[in-house]
Amino acid sequence: MIEDREPIRVALLGCGTVGTEVVRLLRDRPEEFAARVGAPVRVTGVAVRRPHKHPELPEELLTTDSASLVDGDVDLVVELIGGIEPARSLLLRALRAGKSVVTANKALLAEYGSELYAAADASGADIYFEASVAGAIPLLRPLRESLAGDRINRVMGIVNGTTNYILSAMDSTGASYSETLEEAGQLGYAEADPTADVDGFDAAAKAAILASLAFHTRVTATDVHREGISGTSAGDITAAQALDRRVKLLAICDRVTDEEGNESVSARVHPAMIPRDHPLAGVGGAFNAVFVEAESAGQLMFYGQGAGGAPTASAVLGDMVAVARNLVVSGKGPRESAHAQLPVRSMGQTPTRYHISLDVADKPGVLSQVASMFNEHDVSISVVRQQGRGAEASLVVVTHTALDAALKSTVEEIARLDAVREVVSVMRVEGELS
Ligand code: NDP
Ligand code: HSE
Repeated sequence: MIEDREPIRVALLGCGTVGTEVVRLLRDRPEEFAARVGAPVRVTGVAVRRPHKHPELPEELLTTDSASLVDGDVDLVVELIGGIEPARSLLLRALRAGKSVVTANKALLAEYGSELYAAADASGADIYFEASVAGAIPLLRPLRESLAGDRINRVMGIVNGTTNYILSAMDSTGASYSETLEEAGQLGYAEADPTADVDGFDAAAKAAILASLAFHTRVTATDVHREGISGTSAGDITAAQALDRRVKLLAICDRVTDEEGNESVSARVHPAMIPRDHPLAGVGGAFNAVFVEAESAGQLMFYGQGAGGAPTASAVLGDMVAVARNLVVSGKGPRESAHAQLPVRSMGQTPTRYHISLDVADKPGVLSQVASMFNEHDVSISVVRQQGRGAEASLVVVTHTALDAALKSTVEEIARLDAVREVVSVMRVEGELS
Protein backbone atom coordinates (compact mmCIF):
# COMPACT_ATOMS: atom_id res chain seq x y z
CA MET A 1 0.00 0.00 0.00
CA ILE A 2 1.33 3.41 -1.04
CA GLU A 3 0.02 5.06 2.16
CA ASP A 4 2.21 2.77 4.23
CA ARG A 5 5.40 3.83 2.44
CA GLU A 6 7.83 6.32 3.99
CA PRO A 7 6.47 9.80 3.13
CA ILE A 8 8.40 12.38 1.10
CA ARG A 9 8.92 15.14 3.64
CA VAL A 10 8.57 18.67 2.29
CA ALA A 11 9.81 21.93 3.80
CA LEU A 12 7.94 24.90 2.39
CA LEU A 13 9.81 28.21 2.52
CA GLY A 14 7.29 31.04 2.03
CA CYS A 15 3.53 30.72 2.01
CA GLY A 16 2.15 33.76 0.21
CA THR A 17 0.19 33.97 -3.06
CA VAL A 18 1.76 30.82 -4.53
CA GLY A 19 2.63 28.87 -1.37
CA THR A 20 -0.93 29.10 -0.02
CA GLU A 21 -2.23 27.44 -3.20
CA VAL A 22 0.45 24.75 -3.08
CA VAL A 23 -0.62 23.83 0.47
CA ARG A 24 -4.32 23.90 -0.45
CA LEU A 25 -3.89 21.62 -3.48
CA LEU A 26 -1.68 19.17 -1.57
CA ARG A 27 -4.26 19.04 1.22
CA ASP A 28 -7.22 18.66 -1.17
CA ARG A 29 -5.86 15.68 -3.08
CA PRO A 30 -3.32 13.77 -0.97
CA GLU A 31 -4.23 10.35 -2.42
CA GLU A 32 -3.75 11.55 -5.99
CA PHE A 33 -0.31 12.93 -5.22
CA ALA A 34 0.67 9.77 -3.35
CA ALA A 35 -0.46 7.61 -6.30
CA ARG A 36 1.48 9.72 -8.80
CA VAL A 37 4.62 9.80 -6.69
CA GLY A 38 4.51 6.27 -5.31
CA ALA A 39 4.64 7.51 -1.71
CA PRO A 40 2.71 10.00 0.43
CA VAL A 41 3.86 13.63 0.19
CA ARG A 42 3.81 15.41 3.54
CA VAL A 43 4.53 19.07 4.35
CA THR A 44 6.47 18.90 7.61
CA GLY A 45 7.13 22.61 8.10
CA VAL A 46 6.33 26.03 6.65
CA ALA A 47 8.69 28.99 7.11
CA VAL A 48 7.18 32.49 6.94
CA ARG A 49 8.04 35.96 8.20
CA ARG A 50 4.86 36.58 10.19
CA PRO A 51 3.28 33.36 11.54
CA HIS A 52 0.31 35.26 13.02
CA LYS A 53 -0.80 36.07 9.45
CA HIS A 54 -1.35 32.35 8.74
CA PRO A 55 -4.30 31.14 10.83
CA GLU A 56 -5.11 28.72 7.98
CA LEU A 57 -2.04 26.62 8.82
CA PRO A 58 -1.61 24.35 11.90
CA GLU A 59 0.51 26.27 14.40
CA GLU A 60 2.95 23.37 14.84
CA LEU A 61 3.93 23.55 11.15
CA LEU A 62 4.83 27.25 11.23
CA THR A 63 8.28 28.62 11.93
CA THR A 64 10.32 31.74 11.26
CA ASP A 65 13.53 29.72 11.44
CA SER A 66 13.97 28.72 7.78
CA ALA A 67 17.54 27.47 8.23
CA SER A 68 16.55 24.98 10.96
CA LEU A 69 13.65 23.79 8.83
CA VAL A 70 16.02 23.14 5.91
CA ASP A 71 18.51 21.39 8.22
CA GLY A 72 15.79 19.16 9.72
CA ASP A 73 14.43 15.82 8.56
CA VAL A 74 13.20 16.84 5.11
CA ASP A 75 13.69 15.36 1.64
CA LEU A 76 12.53 18.25 -0.51
CA VAL A 77 12.75 22.02 -0.04
CA VAL A 78 10.22 24.20 -1.91
CA GLU A 79 11.26 27.84 -2.00
CA LEU A 80 8.48 30.39 -2.55
CA ILE A 81 9.94 33.41 -0.76
CA GLY A 82 11.33 35.21 -3.82
CA GLY A 83 14.30 37.62 -4.15
CA ILE A 84 17.97 36.81 -3.67
CA GLU A 85 18.52 36.55 0.09
CA PRO A 86 17.75 34.56 2.18
CA ALA A 87 16.49 32.35 -0.68
CA ARG A 88 19.98 31.80 -2.15
CA SER A 89 21.64 30.80 1.12
CA LEU A 90 18.75 28.54 2.07
CA LEU A 91 18.73 26.72 -1.26
CA LEU A 92 22.51 26.28 -1.26
CA ARG A 93 22.25 24.89 2.26
CA ALA A 94 19.59 22.41 1.13
CA LEU A 95 21.39 21.32 -2.04
CA ARG A 96 24.75 20.93 -0.27
CA ALA A 97 23.02 18.62 2.19
CA GLY A 98 21.70 16.53 -0.74
CA LYS A 99 18.13 17.81 -0.41
CA SER A 100 16.36 18.42 -3.71
CA VAL A 101 14.88 21.82 -4.44
CA VAL A 102 11.86 23.24 -6.25
CA THR A 103 11.73 27.01 -6.72
CA ALA A 104 9.72 29.62 -8.63
CA ASN A 105 12.38 32.28 -8.09
CA LYS A 106 13.37 33.77 -11.46
CA ALA A 107 15.46 36.58 -9.98
CA LEU A 108 17.63 34.07 -8.11
CA LEU A 109 17.99 31.63 -11.02
CA ALA A 110 18.84 34.38 -13.50
CA GLU A 111 21.71 35.56 -11.30
CA TYR A 112 22.90 32.51 -9.38
CA GLY A 113 21.58 29.59 -11.43
CA SER A 114 25.05 28.17 -12.09
CA GLU A 115 25.96 28.23 -8.41
CA LEU A 116 22.77 26.34 -7.57
CA TYR A 117 23.32 23.80 -10.35
CA ALA A 118 26.89 23.22 -9.17
CA ALA A 119 25.71 22.57 -5.61
CA ALA A 120 23.04 20.18 -6.92
CA ASP A 121 25.60 18.36 -9.06
CA ALA A 122 28.04 18.00 -6.20
CA SER A 123 25.50 16.35 -3.90
CA GLY A 124 23.36 14.58 -6.52
CA ALA A 125 20.23 16.53 -5.55
CA ASP A 126 17.68 17.78 -8.08
CA ILE A 127 16.73 21.35 -8.88
CA TYR A 128 13.45 22.10 -10.71
CA PHE A 129 12.08 25.56 -11.50
CA GLU A 130 9.22 25.33 -14.01
CA ALA A 131 7.18 28.08 -12.29
CA SER A 132 9.97 30.64 -12.60
CA VAL A 133 9.08 31.50 -16.23
CA ALA A 134 5.53 31.93 -17.55
CA GLY A 135 3.73 30.60 -14.45
CA ALA A 136 1.49 27.66 -15.32
CA ILE A 137 2.79 27.18 -18.86
CA PRO A 138 4.88 24.03 -19.28
CA LEU A 139 7.83 25.65 -21.02
CA LEU A 140 11.09 24.93 -19.22
CA ARG A 141 10.66 21.16 -19.19
CA PRO A 142 10.06 21.15 -22.97
CA LEU A 143 13.25 23.21 -23.38
CA ARG A 144 15.27 21.15 -20.88
CA GLU A 145 13.98 17.71 -21.88
CA SER A 146 11.61 17.39 -24.84
CA LEU A 147 13.72 19.59 -27.14
CA ALA A 148 17.09 18.39 -25.82
CA GLY A 149 17.68 16.54 -29.10
CA ASP A 150 16.91 19.56 -31.27
CA ARG A 151 18.65 22.82 -31.98
CA ILE A 152 16.74 25.90 -30.88
CA ASN A 153 17.32 29.05 -32.90
CA ARG A 154 14.88 31.46 -31.32
CA VAL A 155 12.67 31.88 -28.26
CA MET A 156 10.40 34.92 -28.38
CA GLY A 157 7.50 35.64 -26.10
CA ILE A 158 5.35 37.65 -23.78
CA VAL A 159 6.55 36.60 -20.33
CA ASN A 160 5.20 39.39 -18.14
CA GLY A 161 1.48 39.53 -17.50
CA THR A 162 1.36 42.97 -15.87
CA THR A 163 2.93 44.78 -18.83
CA ASN A 164 0.87 42.76 -21.30
CA TYR A 165 -2.27 43.82 -19.46
CA ILE A 166 -1.18 47.49 -19.64
CA LEU A 167 -0.22 47.40 -23.34
CA SER A 168 -3.41 45.51 -24.27
CA ALA A 169 -5.52 48.10 -22.41
CA MET A 170 -3.64 51.00 -24.05
CA ASP A 171 -4.30 49.40 -27.45
CA SER A 172 -8.01 48.91 -26.87
CA THR A 173 -8.84 52.16 -25.02
CA GLY A 174 -6.30 54.64 -26.36
CA ALA A 175 -5.52 55.64 -22.75
CA SER A 176 -2.06 56.83 -21.68
CA TYR A 177 0.54 54.63 -19.99
CA SER A 178 0.11 56.31 -16.59
CA GLU A 179 -3.71 56.06 -16.63
CA THR A 180 -3.52 52.38 -17.54
CA LEU A 181 -0.86 51.62 -14.93
CA GLU A 182 -3.10 53.16 -12.26
CA GLU A 183 -6.03 51.03 -13.41
CA ALA A 184 -3.83 47.89 -13.45
CA GLY A 185 -2.91 48.63 -9.82
CA GLN A 186 -6.58 49.06 -8.82
CA LEU A 187 -7.45 45.73 -10.46
CA GLY A 188 -4.60 43.98 -8.62
CA TYR A 189 -2.48 43.24 -11.71
CA ALA A 190 0.29 45.73 -11.00
CA GLU A 191 1.99 45.55 -7.59
CA ALA A 192 2.33 48.55 -5.26
CA ASP A 193 5.90 48.86 -6.58
CA PRO A 194 5.51 47.91 -10.25
CA THR A 195 9.18 48.64 -11.14
CA ALA A 196 10.24 45.00 -11.68
CA ASP A 197 7.44 44.55 -14.18
CA VAL A 198 7.20 47.86 -16.03
CA ASP A 199 10.97 48.42 -16.25
CA GLY A 200 11.48 44.92 -17.65
CA PHE A 201 13.54 43.39 -14.79
CA ASP A 202 11.08 40.50 -14.36
CA ALA A 203 11.05 39.74 -18.09
CA ALA A 204 14.85 40.08 -18.33
CA ALA A 205 15.36 37.47 -15.58
CA LYS A 206 13.00 35.14 -17.47
CA ALA A 207 14.83 35.83 -20.76
CA ALA A 208 18.13 34.87 -19.09
CA ILE A 209 16.65 31.54 -17.95
CA LEU A 210 15.13 30.87 -21.39
CA ALA A 211 18.33 31.72 -23.28
CA SER A 212 20.45 29.55 -20.95
CA LEU A 213 18.23 26.53 -21.52
CA ALA A 214 17.64 27.09 -25.23
CA PHE A 215 21.27 27.66 -26.19
CA HIS A 216 23.10 25.49 -23.59
CA THR A 217 24.98 28.61 -22.56
CA ARG A 218 25.15 30.49 -19.28
CA VAL A 219 23.22 33.74 -19.71
CA THR A 220 22.57 35.95 -16.68
CA ALA A 221 20.14 38.84 -16.20
CA THR A 222 23.01 41.33 -16.71
CA ASP A 223 23.63 39.84 -20.20
CA VAL A 224 20.07 40.71 -21.19
CA HIS A 225 19.41 44.08 -22.83
CA ARG A 226 16.45 45.54 -20.98
CA GLU A 227 13.93 48.26 -21.87
CA GLY A 228 10.57 48.47 -20.13
CA ILE A 229 7.28 50.04 -21.15
CA SER A 230 7.32 53.24 -19.10
CA GLY A 231 8.46 55.13 -22.22
CA THR A 232 5.72 53.66 -24.41
CA SER A 233 3.27 56.41 -25.33
CA ALA A 234 -0.24 56.47 -26.70
CA GLY A 235 1.47 57.86 -29.85
CA ASP A 236 3.53 54.64 -30.17
CA ILE A 237 0.36 52.58 -29.93
CA THR A 238 -1.39 54.74 -32.56
CA ALA A 239 1.65 54.53 -34.85
CA ALA A 240 1.54 50.73 -34.55
CA GLN A 241 -2.20 50.66 -35.24
CA ALA A 242 -1.72 52.75 -38.38
CA LEU A 243 0.53 49.97 -39.70
CA ASP A 244 -1.85 47.21 -38.56
CA ARG A 245 0.50 46.25 -35.71
CA ARG A 246 0.32 45.93 -31.93
CA VAL A 247 2.93 46.87 -29.34
CA LYS A 248 4.04 44.04 -27.02
CA LEU A 249 6.84 43.79 -24.46
CA LEU A 250 8.84 40.89 -25.85
CA ALA A 251 11.61 38.73 -24.46
CA ILE A 252 13.68 37.64 -27.46
CA CYS A 253 16.51 35.13 -27.36
CA ASP A 254 18.30 34.47 -30.64
CA ARG A 255 21.06 32.27 -31.94
CA VAL A 256 22.99 34.51 -34.37
CA THR A 257 25.37 33.17 -37.00
CA ASP A 258 27.74 35.68 -38.64
CA GLU A 259 29.07 35.62 -42.20
CA GLU A 260 32.03 33.46 -41.17
CA GLY A 261 29.67 30.95 -39.60
CA ASN A 262 30.55 31.88 -35.99
CA GLU A 263 27.67 31.48 -33.58
CA SER A 264 26.69 33.72 -30.71
CA VAL A 265 23.48 34.43 -28.81
CA SER A 266 21.55 37.53 -27.92
CA ALA A 267 18.93 38.08 -25.25
CA ARG A 268 16.83 41.21 -25.02
CA VAL A 269 13.61 42.60 -23.58
CA HIS A 270 11.96 45.62 -25.14
CA PRO A 271 8.63 46.80 -26.55
CA ALA A 272 8.21 45.93 -30.21
CA MET A 273 5.58 46.25 -32.91
CA ILE A 274 4.28 42.97 -34.24
CA PRO A 275 1.73 42.39 -37.01
CA ARG A 276 -1.86 42.12 -35.72
CA ASP A 277 -2.17 38.68 -37.29
CA HIS A 278 0.94 37.36 -35.49
CA PRO A 279 -0.09 34.78 -32.85
CA LEU A 280 1.60 36.82 -30.10
CA ALA A 281 -0.44 39.92 -31.05
CA GLY A 282 -3.62 38.09 -30.04
CA VAL A 283 -2.34 37.40 -26.52
CA GLY A 284 -4.33 39.84 -24.42
CA GLY A 285 -4.67 40.79 -20.77
CA ALA A 286 -2.33 39.19 -18.25
CA PHE A 287 -1.70 36.07 -20.35
CA ASN A 288 1.73 34.87 -21.44
CA ALA A 289 2.78 33.14 -24.66
CA VAL A 290 6.14 31.98 -25.94
CA PHE A 291 7.18 31.06 -29.48
CA VAL A 292 10.03 28.58 -29.92
CA GLU A 293 11.72 27.96 -33.25
CA ALA A 294 13.77 24.79 -33.45
CA GLU A 295 15.64 23.34 -36.40
CA SER A 296 13.74 20.03 -36.63
CA ALA A 297 10.58 20.71 -34.61
CA GLY A 298 9.87 23.97 -36.45
CA GLN A 299 7.67 26.55 -34.73
CA LEU A 300 6.03 25.79 -31.38
CA MET A 301 3.84 28.05 -29.31
CA PHE A 302 3.15 27.84 -25.58
CA TYR A 303 0.24 29.84 -24.18
CA GLY A 304 -1.51 30.22 -20.83
CA GLN A 305 -1.62 31.94 -17.47
CA GLY A 306 1.77 33.33 -16.56
CA ALA A 307 0.99 34.36 -13.00
CA GLY A 308 -1.42 34.00 -10.10
CA GLY A 309 -1.54 31.70 -7.09
CA ALA A 310 -3.26 28.60 -8.50
CA PRO A 311 -1.70 28.64 -12.00
CA THR A 312 1.80 29.05 -10.57
CA ALA A 313 1.11 26.41 -7.91
CA SER A 314 0.25 23.98 -10.73
CA ALA A 315 3.80 24.29 -12.07
CA VAL A 316 5.31 24.05 -8.57
CA LEU A 317 3.32 20.89 -7.82
CA GLY A 318 4.35 19.35 -11.15
CA ASP A 319 7.98 19.86 -10.15
CA MET A 320 7.33 18.48 -6.66
CA VAL A 321 5.85 15.32 -8.15
CA ALA A 322 8.87 14.96 -10.49
CA VAL A 323 11.38 15.37 -7.65
CA ALA A 324 9.43 13.11 -5.31
CA ARG A 325 9.23 10.39 -7.98
CA ASN A 326 12.97 10.64 -8.48
CA LEU A 327 13.44 10.19 -4.73
CA VAL A 328 11.17 7.12 -4.72
CA VAL A 329 12.95 5.40 -7.61
CA SER A 330 16.44 6.79 -6.81
CA GLY A 331 16.44 8.66 -10.12
CA LYS A 332 17.78 12.09 -11.04
CA GLY A 333 16.37 15.05 -12.92
CA PRO A 334 18.18 16.94 -15.69
CA ARG A 335 21.43 18.74 -14.79
CA GLU A 336 22.77 22.04 -16.09
CA SER A 337 23.60 21.93 -19.78
CA ALA A 338 26.00 24.79 -20.60
CA HIS A 339 28.36 22.91 -22.91
CA ALA A 340 27.96 25.32 -25.86
CA GLN A 341 29.12 28.42 -23.94
CA LEU A 342 28.39 30.68 -26.89
CA PRO A 343 29.42 34.34 -26.59
CA VAL A 344 26.59 36.73 -25.74
CA ARG A 345 26.21 39.67 -28.13
CA SER A 346 25.74 43.22 -26.91
CA MET A 347 22.53 44.94 -28.00
CA GLY A 348 24.47 47.16 -30.42
CA GLN A 349 25.72 44.06 -32.25
CA THR A 350 22.28 42.42 -32.35
CA PRO A 351 20.35 42.45 -35.64
CA THR A 352 16.98 44.24 -35.28
CA ARG A 353 14.52 46.28 -37.35
CA TYR A 354 13.16 49.73 -36.56
CA HIS A 355 9.89 51.57 -37.17
CA ILE A 356 10.48 55.33 -37.12
CA SER A 357 7.72 57.93 -37.25
CA LEU A 358 8.77 61.54 -37.92
CA ASP A 359 7.12 64.94 -38.30
CA VAL A 360 9.08 66.72 -41.03
CA ALA A 361 8.88 69.93 -43.08
CA ASP A 362 6.94 69.22 -46.28
CA LYS A 363 9.41 70.65 -48.83
CA PRO A 364 11.65 69.34 -51.60
CA GLY A 365 14.72 67.30 -50.61
CA VAL A 366 13.59 66.27 -47.10
CA LEU A 367 12.87 62.65 -48.00
CA SER A 368 16.23 62.33 -49.73
CA GLN A 369 18.04 63.86 -46.70
CA VAL A 370 16.38 61.31 -44.41
CA ALA A 371 17.07 58.48 -46.87
CA SER A 372 20.74 59.43 -47.12
CA MET A 373 21.12 59.03 -43.31
CA PHE A 374 20.02 55.43 -43.61
CA ASN A 375 22.34 54.97 -46.56
CA GLU A 376 25.33 56.37 -44.63
CA HIS A 377 24.80 53.75 -41.91
CA ASP A 378 24.27 50.97 -44.41
CA VAL A 379 20.68 50.51 -43.25
CA SER A 380 18.27 49.34 -45.93
CA ILE A 381 14.71 50.76 -45.96
CA SER A 382 11.76 48.38 -46.31
CA VAL A 383 8.73 50.73 -46.21
CA VAL A 384 8.32 54.52 -46.50
CA ARG A 385 4.99 56.31 -46.09
CA GLN A 386 4.52 60.06 -46.25
CA GLN A 387 1.37 62.04 -45.62
CA GLY A 388 1.22 65.82 -46.04
CA ARG A 389 -0.38 68.01 -43.38
CA GLY A 390 -0.11 71.66 -44.52
CA ALA A 391 3.51 72.82 -44.21
CA GLU A 392 4.47 69.60 -42.43
CA ALA A 393 4.33 65.95 -43.29
CA SER A 394 4.28 62.77 -41.30
CA LEU A 395 6.93 60.32 -42.48
CA VAL A 396 7.06 56.67 -41.48
CA VAL A 397 10.07 54.49 -42.24
CA VAL A 398 10.38 50.77 -41.53
CA THR A 399 13.85 49.36 -42.03
CA HIS A 400 15.17 45.99 -43.01
CA THR A 401 17.30 44.14 -40.47
CA ALA A 402 20.51 45.91 -39.43
CA LEU A 403 22.74 46.02 -36.36
CA ASP A 404 20.95 47.85 -33.55
CA ALA A 405 23.89 50.26 -33.09
CA ALA A 406 23.63 51.37 -36.73
CA LEU A 407 19.87 51.89 -36.42
CA LYS A 408 20.28 53.87 -33.21
CA SER A 409 22.94 56.16 -34.71
CA THR A 410 20.79 56.71 -37.80
CA VAL A 411 17.86 57.87 -35.66
CA GLU A 412 20.13 60.17 -33.60
CA GLU A 413 21.41 61.85 -36.77
CA ILE A 414 17.96 62.12 -38.34
CA ALA A 415 16.73 63.85 -35.18
CA ARG A 416 19.39 66.53 -35.72
CA LEU A 417 18.27 67.40 -39.27
CA ASP A 418 16.76 70.92 -39.53
CA ALA A 419 13.83 69.60 -41.55
CA VAL A 420 12.88 67.10 -38.84
CA ARG A 421 10.44 68.78 -36.43
CA GLU A 422 9.93 65.80 -34.13
CA VAL A 423 10.82 62.14 -33.82
CA VAL A 424 7.32 60.96 -32.86
CA SER A 425 8.01 57.29 -32.28
CA VAL A 426 10.90 54.83 -32.57
CA MET A 427 10.21 51.19 -31.96
CA ARG A 428 11.66 47.87 -32.98
CA VAL A 429 9.66 45.66 -35.32
CA GLU A 430 9.41 41.89 -34.92
CA GLY A 431 7.53 39.00 -36.37
CA GLU A 432 8.04 39.43 -40.08
CA LEU A 433 10.56 38.17 -42.57
CA SER A 434 12.96 40.94 -43.60
P1 NDP B 1 4.47 36.48 -1.69
O1 NDP B 1 5.11 37.80 -1.42
O2 NDP B 1 3.01 36.43 -1.82
O3 NDP B 1 4.88 35.47 -0.52
C1 NDP B 1 6.18 35.40 -0.02
C2 NDP B 1 6.18 34.49 1.19
O4 NDP B 1 7.52 34.40 1.67
C3 NDP B 1 5.33 34.96 2.35
O5 NDP B 1 4.66 33.88 2.93
C4 NDP B 1 6.34 35.55 3.34
O6 NDP B 1 5.98 35.42 4.69
C5 NDP B 1 7.52 34.65 3.08
N1 NDP B 1 8.79 35.27 3.43
C6 NDP B 1 9.26 36.48 3.06
N2 NDP B 1 10.50 36.67 3.57
C7 NDP B 1 10.79 35.56 4.27
C8 NDP B 1 11.90 35.14 5.04
N3 NDP B 1 12.97 35.92 5.18
N4 NDP B 1 11.86 33.93 5.63
C9 NDP B 1 10.78 33.11 5.49
N5 NDP B 1 9.69 33.45 4.78
C10 NDP B 1 9.70 34.66 4.17
O7 NDP B 1 5.19 35.88 -2.98
P2 NDP B 1 4.56 35.01 -4.14
O8 NDP B 1 3.88 33.84 -3.57
O9 NDP B 1 3.82 35.90 -5.06
O10 NDP B 1 5.88 34.56 -4.94
C11 NDP B 1 6.70 33.53 -4.50
C12 NDP B 1 7.70 33.20 -5.59
O11 NDP B 1 7.01 32.78 -6.76
C13 NDP B 1 8.59 34.36 -6.04
O12 NDP B 1 9.86 33.90 -6.37
C14 NDP B 1 7.87 34.87 -7.29
O13 NDP B 1 8.74 35.53 -8.19
C15 NDP B 1 7.39 33.57 -7.88
N6 NDP B 1 6.28 33.69 -8.78
C16 NDP B 1 5.13 34.31 -8.37
C17 NDP B 1 4.07 34.43 -9.20
C18 NDP B 1 2.80 35.09 -8.78
O14 NDP B 1 1.88 35.20 -9.60
N7 NDP B 1 2.67 35.54 -7.53
C19 NDP B 1 4.12 33.89 -10.58
C20 NDP B 1 5.35 33.20 -10.89
C21 NDP B 1 6.38 33.12 -10.01
P3 NDP B 1 4.67 36.17 5.29
O15 NDP B 1 3.50 35.46 4.66
O16 NDP B 1 4.72 35.91 6.74
O17 NDP B 1 4.78 37.57 4.88
N1 HSE C 1 4.81 40.01 -11.98
C1 HSE C 1 4.85 38.89 -12.88
C2 HSE C 1 3.95 39.17 -14.09
C3 HSE C 1 4.42 37.66 -12.14
O1 HSE C 1 3.26 40.19 -14.11
O2 HSE C 1 3.98 38.40 -15.04
C4 HSE C 1 4.81 36.39 -12.82
O3 HSE C 1 6.18 36.16 -12.80
